[in-house]
Amino acid sequence: SEGVGKDADGVLTVAGLDVTELAATVGTPAYVIDEADLRARARAFAEAFAGWNVYYAGKSFLCTAVARWVAEEGLGIDTCTGGELAVARRAGIDMATVGLHGNNKSVEELVAALEAGVGRIIVDSFDEIARLGHLAGELGLRPRVMVRVTTGVEAHTHEYISTAHEDQKFGFSIAGGAAAEALALCQADERLDLVGIHSHIGSQIFDAAGFEVAARRTLRLHADFATEHGVELPEMDLGGGFGIAYTSQDAPSTPAQLAAAMNRIVDTECAALGVARPQLSIEPGRAISGPSGFLLYTVGTVKRVRLDGGASRLYVAVDGGMSDNIRTALYAAEYSATLASRRSAAPPTLARVVGKHCEGGDILVRDEFLPADVTPGDLVAVPAAGAYSRSMASNYNHVPRPPVVSVRDGRVTTLVRRETLDDLLALDVG
Ligand code: LLP
Repeated sequence: SEGVGKDADGVLTVAGLDVTELAATVGTPAYVIDEADLRARARAFAEAFAGWNVYYAGKSFLCTAVARWVAEEGLGIDTCTGGELAVARRAGIDMATVGLHGNNKSVEELVAALEAGVGRIIVDSFDEIARLGHLAGELGLRPRVMVRVTTGVEAHTHEYISTAHEDQKFGFSIAGGAAAEALALCQADERLDLVGIHSHIGSQIFDAAGFEVAARRTLRLHADFATEHGVELPEMDLGGGFGIAYTSQDAPSTPAQLAAAMNRIVDTECAALGVARPQLSIEPGRAISGPSGFLLYTVGTVKRVRLDGGASRLYVAVDGGMSDNIRTALYAAEYSATLASRRSAAPPTLARVVGKHCEGGDILVRDEFLPADVTPGDLVAVPAAGAYSRSMASNYNHVPRPPVVSVRDGRVTTLVRRETLDDLLALDVG
């Protein structure tokens, strides 16, 4: 009863539970998480990166249960808003293992982080350094601070999820000198406890060279700081961004391979620069939550559309859409889909899985071969949809957001309940 697979009748099963039964219990659409799988991925990072601190990036998906699971597996939690911080707090996570990111944290968010006693606040602008110093002074608290830097690395991923080239909103530029200036400011401010440098180059990255170049530039900055200020900062974070397989075309590295590569580069560079190895950390999100979750839908309508040249495509419309997973529409992300409720002997046909929203861009899976007899009432699953789906969900067209359920040892648990129309209408107070 391990993992996700198909039974003798062609029905998709997750941790020993048939999705037909799951759909009958919780309805569709639903986000389904294989708890054991998510925990195993968290544990794999903790084990491979022994000696490092691993922070789970909550932006990929966060709820109180998942926060507790990753904490139980030995991870901290990276939050980037007061909302994510509130979830970690409600989950009862040790705040010393929580960090707060953000390029424009509000005063309320900074105060919440200070009062909660988070383990680190990653500062991202000169405005914020001044603001945080002021608030810390007023509250008589001395936050542990990291400085987010821009390494100038081209991460070879979609522009919107690439964060280390110069012309984007995050970080202080190393090449431009702002990073050294920000570090000096934090170091000089007695209200702040500067602990290290933070670099994150982007997301869904397969090319290890990007991480290596970023680590090298960040360590050089660390060494330059030591020379100038006479102190080696105790910590350093090299971010997240490790790519996962969305389709069979993708071949991601394992945590062990990533750890080996990153340890090698850190050791080599530290020796070359003559500095001690700082306490290192990483912040994987997608690589933990992504492969562990899938979206489960019911087919509502099927339409065959003629294409130029005589071919045709089957438009398979399901009961959700871009409001529960906008990644295909926003990043041209590629997913696969599978008929989940039965076996079919029908020949595969070129299909497109679309949603129920009122726009043509409402595509979940752009190109997939599905059995030609796909019909209303069938269940369709979209694998590897655990990251940046529910966490980026919207209420476009006043569609309530689906629930998040987990399955473990054949039993289903609702983690986040299905939104109702009453929930949505309750906000409309005009
Ligand atoms: N640390 C920092 C500072 C980050 O900005 C991010 C992601 C992470 C860690 C985690 O990255 P991961 O390991 O999950 O790749 N919505 C986009 C992804 C945005 C990522 C933003 N930052 C998507 O759906 O592809």
